[in-house]
Amino acid sequence: MEVRLYSVVTPNGLIAGKGDDLSFITETEWQGMLKEAYDAGNCIMGRRAYEALLKKGKFPFNCLNIVLTKSPKKFKNKWPDKVIFTNKSPRAILNMLSSKGFQKALLIGGGHVNASFAKQKLIDEIVLDLEPRLITSGIRLFEGKEFGAKLKLIDARRVSPEEARIIYKVEK
Ligand SMILES: NC(=O)c1ccc[n+]([C@@H]2O[C@H](COP(=O)([O-])OP(=O)(O)OC[C@H]3O[C@@H](n4cnc5c(N)ncnc54)[C@H](OP(=O)(O)O)[C@@H]3O)[C@@H](O)[C@H]2O)c1
Repeated sequence: MEVRLYSVVTPNGLIAGKGDDLSFITETEWQGMLKEAYDAGNCIMGRRAYEALLKKGKFPFNCLNIVLTKSPKKFKNKWPDKVIFTNKSPRAILNMLSSKGFQKALLIGGGHVNASFAKQKLIDEIVLDLEPRLITSGIRLFEGKEFGAKLKLIDARRVSPEEARIIYKVEK
């Protein structure tokens, strides 16, 4: 299973501002994120990312949405054909996607879930869309766990008048 982490970040590595502020993400970028999820057929996110997307009116994406939470029973699932709330481990989630026929998984965050996958060396590729905004406090791309990884630069280019995309392979 190939796992791609896709995230929209500020140049200083934040994925949300204070109070889960996502106003730095342009509409073009939201469309890009929706397309990534649609193309992958699935997306994996944390419960806090789910709540932020729901508040923004962006949830669910048009694919199988996997939401990690330690308390899946707490959530009333209004989209049973599209959304799974689960307390499975990152590895077990990838096994579940494999058993459903997926060869690729799209991890979209937030920072705590990203770090859980990274710590277990489950991420193969990192795609970062850089927004031209600096904010100094908020949620980082990886939160709550210590780890390190060597990356190989695959591509760096302008993808819109405002945004740059950097693609890395994670060396294992
Ligand atoms: N810029 C972007 O591309 C982008 C993308 C996605 C999200 N975001 C932003 O990121 C922020 C949320 O990030 P976050 O780091 O605070 O939270 P998060 O990673 O989205 O969610 C963390 C929650 O996931 C659940 N969880 C279950 N198993 C886990 C595991 N193995 N590892 C980690 N979490 C697990 C827990 O929920 P329970 O407490 O329910 O057990 C935990 O509190 C939001 O502001 C969102 O808007 C930005």
